[in-house]
Amino acid sequence: MAIERTLSIIKPDAVAKNVIGQILTRFENAGLKIVNARLQQLTRAEAEGFYAVHKERPFFNDLVEFMISGPVFIQVLEGENAIAKNRELMGATDPKKAAPGTIRADFAESIDANAVHGSDAPETAAVEIAYFFGK
Ligand code: TYD
Repeated sequence: MAIERTLSIIKPDAVAKNVIGQILTRFENAGLKIVNARLQQLTRAEAEGFYAVHKERPFFNDLVEFMISGPVFIQVLEGENAIAKNRELMGATDPKKAAPGTIRADFAESIDANAVHGSDAPETAAVEIAYFFGK
């Protein structure tokens, strides 16, 4: 299986809940290595650029407001099958539909404040990692 890298963001709700460490521990226990990371307050332009693919969606403005409501913790995870593995650890977008034991089931309240972001494919992972950490 291929060694991949993926972009993960611990969103403002989870940072405010003081569960950065608990979430990172889940990545580590699943065999994912944190190879780059930083705490950052996103600007509106950075949040809009990151979620540009969603700019025509009805939830876009609320999503941007939420993402700039406090600092986020951004990390690059590396490991076998890292993209799918991270998505599995995260659980479904809507925490009400997320499998028990997933990050969103355990730490998120709603679909618009859902604790974590994770790249969904190799192409988006490459773009998202470059967006925050450069080449
Ligand atoms: P999406 O890429 O569909 O989900 P995921 O984060 O699981 O890859 O959506 C991006 C974010 O947009 C999602 O994490 C939360 C927000 N969002 C809403 O607020 N309402 C919605 O109905 C959807 C689909 C997403």
